[in-house]
Amino acid sequence: MAGINPYIVKVQAAKAAQPFRVTFVDEESGERRVVPVDPATFEFGHLGLDGSLLDIATEAGVSINHSCGGVCACSTCHVHVQQGLETCSKSTDDEEDELDKAPALTPESRLACQCVPNGVRDLVVLIPKWNRNQVKEGHH
Ligand code: FES
Repeated sequence: MAGINPYIVKVQAAKAAQPFRVTFVDEESGERRVVPVDPATFEFGHLGLDGSLLDIATEAGVSINHSCGGVCACSTCHVHVQQGLETCSKSTDDEEDELDKAPALTPESRLACQCVPNGVRDLVVLIPKWNRNQVKEGHH
């Protein structure tokens, strides 16, 4: 169940109304996972904003680190939206503040829990190496 950070303004993000695909690319292993998202049947509402990249990844079994539970209070869910970024909800000041703390920032950087695609275009989302390393270190 997604938590709520009372200090963060609720983001208004339009969820997709049409089917689209998200290709998650694991930078470390090079593995690509194509996730078809049909808003009529896809089970949203697990983690982060409803319909967010973290929400989609979680339902599809794609692992993205999310230390704060998807409430825009860390930067561990940092991903690079390499394709389709223009179809995603705009980042808020709160997201930008958290992103500033993330390593390896690029113009394609987003917090997966705050980034909601509208489904107009397919997406390619890179899960950076450091995200994977952080997950591994967390298990040691
Ligand atoms: S999981 Fe913490 S900001 Fe996304």
